[in-house]
Amino acid sequence: MVQKSIVLGISGGIAAYKAAGLASLLVKQGFQVQTVMTKAATEFITPLTLQALTKQPVYVDVLAEQDPTRISHVAMADQADAIIIAPATADVIARIAHGLADDMLTSILLVARCPVIVAPSMNVHMYEHPLVQKNLHVLRELGYIIAEPDEGMLACGYVGKGRLLEPSDLAEILSFALSPKPLQGKKILVTAGPTKERIDPVRYVTNDSTGTMGYALARCAWKLGAHVTLLSGAVNLLPGIGIDVISVSSAIHLQEEVEKRIAEVDMFIMTAAVADYRPQTTYDYKWKKTDDVDTVTWTMVRNPDILVSLKGKYKPGAYVIGFAAETHDVDRYARKKLVDKGVDLLVVNNVLEYGAGFGTGTNRVDLYFQDGRTTALPLASKMDVATMILQQALVRMGLVDDEGMQA
Ligand code: CTP
Repeated sequence: MVQKSIVLGISGGIAAYKAAGLASLLVKQGFQVQTVMTKAATEFITPLTLQALTKQPVYVDVLAEQDPTRISHVAMADQADAIIIAPATADVIARIAHGLADDMLTSILLVARCPVIVAPSMNVHMYEHPLVQKNLHVLRELGYIIAEPDEGMLACGYVGKGRLLEPSDLAEILSFALSPKPLQGKKILVTAGPTKERIDPVRYVTNDSTGTMGYALARCAWKLGAHVTLLSGAVNLLPGIGIDVISVSSAIHLQEEVEKRIAEVDMFIMTAAVADYRPQTTYDYKWKKTDDVDTVTWTMVRNPDILVSLKGKYKPGAYVIGFAAETHDVDRYARKKLVDKGVDLLVVNNVLEYGAGFGTGTNRVDLYFQDGRTTALPLASKMDVATMILQQALVRMGLVDDEGMQA
């Protein structure tokens, strides 16, 4: 694979030290990182740090041309697959918005034709100042991706919006900027994780689902340009930036939240591990043990089958993906579920197989399509499995061809 080249622009704010973490992460991810610093940035972090981390020369002065065979700011802009400016101070944002080319970084930006990410970081009042907001608006209108700062404790002592995003979030935004966008303008609803069926305020019935597969699909769909809503049971995962997450509890709650949205979505991915039964009675108060009772029987009642209940409610042309966890007779159950659940694609895993199922970082699945065809995917990380599943779905939706190119 051809190594992608990223220009990392660093301007002079206290968060400049975080740019070292970002540079290191991007190098680990296999990018070639070319660092460009403003003069002020060199007061906060030394070029030598970035040079050592990236194994590349660091550029500051647009006029200090070392190599007579090239014009550095033009060569770097032409070579870049993406540019990320982190941190971006109010000053550099203003200079970019006004088309200045008074240093290396701003000169590169005027030449560049690749995606540009601007990650502001400053005092909250500065960030909210109408002039800064106006300049950011200009950049957005021009197609720059603004990596909105976090809220929190700022170096100036204020608490508010202005903290530079963490390197992992910035790397995610970069990977978004670099991916093709066949799902641009499409709405996708993903369900993930377990349901919780309450017995009383302190007890419930649930299952081992960690939500990892659903979260991976949500991330992947976001990277491909979709607007993603994730209905999530209680899990220990962060969805990352760009995804709307709504917490759900029981199967009934999940069904209500799905029904509110289903008529609008272009793709529905149902990975949630829904409890098939729930306690018939949910107590409002803690259920107490009794000294003379040694055994207890709970009556459980059937939950609705959400996928079955959705038949006929989808937007015309919507693509529906269901999941199935099996331990035996996998092929027979898979073919039956494909029909009963009314899905276009059923992703099936044998949870007893090595590396598949709940609580593993990997998965090994078989895909069952409506036309009777099946495909066995290789054992891979859940993120890679998510990519392969969406790839197959996009081919069937006519959004990409078999080679993975946008149709
Ligand atoms: N599903 C659903 N509503 C339920 C149970 C499951 O919509 N009440 C969905 C799951 O999210 C999944 C698919 O149906 O996409 C298959 O789920 P699975 O647990 O494998 O199958 P079940 O229908 O529960 O059947 P069984 O437990 O008998 O295998």
